[in-house]
Amino acid sequence: MTANELREKYLNFFKERDHAIIPSASLIPEHDPTVLFTTAGMHPLTSFLLGEKHPGGKRLVNVQKCIRTGDIDDVGDSWHLTFFEMLGNWSLGDYWKKEAIEWSFEFLTGRDYLGISSEKLSVTVFAGDPSINSGQATRDEESAKIWESLGIPKERIFYLSKEENWWGPAGQTGPCGPCSEMFYDTGKEKCGSDCKPGCKCGKYAEIWNDVFMEFNKTAEGKFEQLKQKNVDTGMGVERTIAVLDGFDNVYDTELFKPLIKKIEEISNKKYEGENIKTFRIIADHLKAATFILAEGVEPSNVERGYVLRRLIRRAVRYGKQLGINDIFTFKIANVVIEMYRDVYLELSSNRMFIEEQLVREEEKFTKTLEKGLKVLEKMKPKKTISFLSKSFFTEYGLSGDVLFNLYSTYGFPIEMSLEEIKKLYQEYNREQGVSITELTKDDENRILQQFHESLKKHQELSRAGAEQKFKGGLADHSEHVVKYHTAAHLMLAALRQVLGSHVTQKGSNITAERLRFDFSHPQKLTLEQIKQVEDLVNQTIVRDLPVKMEEMSLDEAKEQGAMGVFESRYGEKVKVYTIAENGKIFSKEICGGPHVEKIGQLGHFKILKEESVSAGARRIKAVLE
Ligand code: SER
Repeated sequence: MTANELREKYLNFFKERDHAIIPSASLIPEHDPTVLFTTAGMHPLTSFLLGEKHPGGKRLVNVQKCIRTGDIDDVGDSWHLTFFEMLGNWSLGDYWKKEAIEWSFEFLTGRDYLGISSEKLSVTVFAGDPSINSGQATRDEESAKIWESLGIPKERIFYLSKEENWWGPAGQTGPCGPCSEMFYDTGKEKCGSDCKPGCKCGKYAEIWNDVFMEFNKTAEGKFEQLKQKNVDTGMGVERTIAVLDGFDNVYDTELFKPLIKKIEEISNKKYEGENIKTFRIIADHLKAATFILAEGVEPSNVERGYVLRRLIRRAVRYGKQLGINDIFTFKIANVVIEMYRDVYLELSSNRMFIEEQLVREEEKFTKTLEKGLKVLEKMKPKKTISFLSKSFFTEYGLSGDVLFNLYSTYGFPIEMSLEEIKKLYQEYNREQGVSITELTKDDENRILQQFHESLKKHQELSRAGAEQKFKGGLADHSEHVVKYHTAAHLMLAALRQVLGSHVTQKGSNITAERLRFDFSHPQKLTLEQIKQVEDLVNQTIVRDLPVKMEEMSLDEAKEQGAMGVFESRYGEKVKVYTIAENGKIFSKEICGGPHVEKIGQLGHFKILKEESVSAGARRIKAVLE
């Protein structure tokens, strides 16, 4: 069955049962600032599930495009996807469990519809949870009985707990409720005696979820009974097509085949063996990126733009692993557009924008990768490694931390770093005419371990940041502001090195998106000077120096040569922020803070504009990318 047939059959089935067909909403939630993308069909319908009247009536059906990024590390396995389509039918305070389950069963097994043998189906129902609304979310015997009445034997009805069998809310508050899910038995052996629907081994493919939404989660985390009992169902198009066509993964379906074929053509590699996962990730990420771009989102460092940037850059990195060196992402996007153009009209109407943005982002990323390579190249030792010297990596001054900074600053992946180091190492051996210190497995392991420790620390920090955002709404914003604040110190130091010590700060204005900085200097900066300032700042960032804060009296601060606005009441301590390497001071300023702890996280610094602001003063606009 093709995706077109499936969409059509589904919509017609429910239309015949008095459902109004409604269009897919945007991937960008209109009324929910707490979530970046539409994650499920019910998401855009939240207000109607809460009781508002829908112009289409109480029964609705549609195909909704969705993006989920929570499972990004699972992408590449058999079933997980970033972009997917969800078929859904809704009852807004109208029908309830009996009709919902009976129709699901009829559509799945009916000869005129999907014709799946009922023997292949297993289902789950809610096991109950006493913590919800004073025990009102009870064990769902009602659904189990309905399934039994349809011929599903008790052995294939599984009671699952809230962790697995509860849906929603889509954002932080809103409608939610227990699920009854339908699984297709792929015929694979059970992975163990515990193997049952919900197990990740691949035996059971989840294809449809009926959610009985009768609760509302409040901002205080309480569950309260909704005014109306709703049904929200969701059936994954890609998974269902895979199951109907007898595949054990979504990538063999017509919704991915053309993409895989195109990647084979561009890379000259086959979709087989170790390459399979790489192909899948590229196809998944670029399909998702194409749909996000079609909504007018541009790659950036914040929110949706950041997710988009990550998807594109990951795809490019995996492309490089396959040996693709030319700009290629727009070619894959064009296949996506052709595949879906009749269903999602926004794709072809935004083709130019999609292509332009992909080319631009890919070029930008390729440049940052080149810069990363240069940083690595610089680390090549100047002196000869003596025969029994320390290990190669120690001689290079390389550690997992340094490679982590390359990763976090330039998006330079660890695998590529290791490859490059090996190349440099061979070159070095050739030049020196030696074949000593082999790149040992120990070296590699040590470096990977250090890298992963740094990554974990970083993730913990960003998770803390995300949680803060969850609570306060502005933390993410202020994180960027803090970074720009530290960047301003680096820039002032760099300007003084390049232009001279007459440069002092005249003012600054920082938002989450950029830094504006005024300083004293009589002439326009040359392009060369701008480049020098940028390079100095970036070379410092890559070394991930710590920012040290000390409190001292104003006199002490002045004595130590700290820059800053020297105004303080008598006796009051001032904060002094210092960025130094091995005792050599790069920047020392009196400042109220706050600043980042280590500067590696600033990313790549770029000056966008330099102009006159008044006689003897210049203004720079700069960004962190
Ligand atoms: N909201 C449920 C899901 O996404 C059913 O549509 O699985």
